[in-house]
Amino acid sequence: MTTKDTLIKKLQDKTAKIGILGMGYVGMPLAVVFAEKGFNVLGIDPDPRKVDTFNKGISYIQDIPTETVARLQKAGRLKMSADFAALVEMDAVSICVPTPLRQTGDPDMSFILSATEQLAKHVHKGMVIVLESTTYPGTTRELMVPMLTEKSGLKVGEDLFICFSPERVDPGREDWTTYNTPKVMGGMTAACAEVATAWYSGALETVVPVSSPEAAEMAKLLENTFRMINIAMVNELALMCERLGVDVWEVIEAAATKPFGFMKFTPGPGLGGHCIPIDPLYLSWKMKALNYNAKFIELASEINTNMPRYVVSRVLEGLNDRGKPLKGHKVLVLGVAYKPDIDDVRESPALDVIALLRQKGALVEYHDPHIPQIHHEREDWKMESIADAALMKSVKAADAVVIITNHSSYDYKAILEAAQFIFDSRNALGQAGKHSEKVVRL
Ligand SMILES: NC(=O)c1ccc[n+]([C@@H]2O[C@H](COP(=O)([O-])OP(=O)(O)OC[C@H]3O[C@@H](n4cnc5c(N)ncnc54)[C@H](O)[C@@H]3O)[C@@H](O)[C@H]2O)c1
Repeated sequence: MTTKDTLIKKLQDKTAKIGILGMGYVGMPLAVVFAEKGFNVLGIDPDPRKVDTFNKGISYIQDIPTETVARLQKAGRLKMSADFAALVEMDAVSICVPTPLRQTGDPDMSFILSATEQLAKHVHKGMVIVLESTTYPGTTRELMVPMLTEKSGLKVGEDLFICFSPERVDPGREDWTTYNTPKVMGGMTAACAEVATAWYSGALETVVPVSSPEAAEMAKLLENTFRMINIAMVNELALMCERLGVDVWEVIEAAATKPFGFMKFTPGPGLGGHCIPIDPLYLSWKMKALNYNAKFIELASEINTNMPRYVVSRVLEGLNDRGKPLKGHKVLVLGVAYKPDIDDVRESPALDVIALLRQKGALVEYHDPHIPQIHHEREDWKMESIADAALMKSVKAADAVVIITNHSSYDYKAILEAAQFIFDSRNALGQAGKHSEKVVRL
């Protein structure tokens, strides 16, 4: 049997050992899906807090119940460690490490580089490696493959199988999960795609092979650039509607009744999360190196980045209309997660909104049922959420309540009744907000 056939057999009969490098929002759910489907999985992560929490049988990812972690651990199918030496025993490894931006706005490839360096120390014949981190087209071929083959002398497609498969999971979502969201798979060679497809289709519902890692890398960037640009377009629509005196929310609802050719996006206080604000900039960075300016991305990024400033200007205006300056007055921000009902605050526009309010002298408090504490890294301040029990008292006391994230657990009727003035950046109050004198909407 060839190396490829032996590996495929191990993957199909689930005797192959699976390693997941990076056990965060993406890696942990993937590790759980593989373990649930009968693979033996080892998650490797350098963060000792994550490893310790996991080893106590506790989940640290909101989408994964502690009961699931404890059950899979007890069955011996899911383990976690900070020791990269275990890679030598692995047959199949998925890399799910972060791909943030540097302060300069350029891709921070340090996590992919360090994970690949660790892998290069332990890479061996008969191994399949799939990069899942979102990145610029060419990363798998230009950056990873040389690191994994130059010293080892292994031949891609014969001894070693390398692919890129973007992670598309939408944390907090229950209808489309890691299991049933189709998985695009781009192999360095046809044999690479064949091995990785044999592996992933043993645990995930649908695998969609494409002809190269670059096609898979670019497909992910298309998906997120599509969202970023459409959100920017609808944010600009909100700015235009305000000048025209037209209700943007009504306009969007009306347009959305068209059964074809229109997809609904809604405006908001800015982009958040680890993906949509960041991933398209990986593409524009790569294009700059090829002397091409990705114009749509630059423009969308500029519009979205300005939204927190716009929100603050509208709050200031709303207070002014009520005879109050922002300086020295109480502002309560409701919701700081980057989207409803999740516990993720990365890149959340709430941080910029709060920072700008503070800079203008407002006395800012926030409440979020999912985020007990926030840390603004650039300005280096921390804040704690007011307690759930104190929420309504703070709503009453605030000169302005600013809804940034429309968590479903809020009692918006009670908030509307108790508040003096609300700026609603998400239309969380709906028609009740539209018809209330107390409310200004984005
Ligand atoms: N979170 C999402 O919604 C989402 C969705 C689709 C794609 N992605 C992409 O998936 C990738 C991972 O994102 P995430 O949200 O899971 O990030 P995360 O920060 O939640 O998790 C990444 C983990 O990798 C670990 N890590 C760092 N360096 C490592 C190394 N050298 N070796 C092993 N582990 C290392 C970190 O300690 C952390 O636990 C990113 O490229 C992201 O863009 C994320």
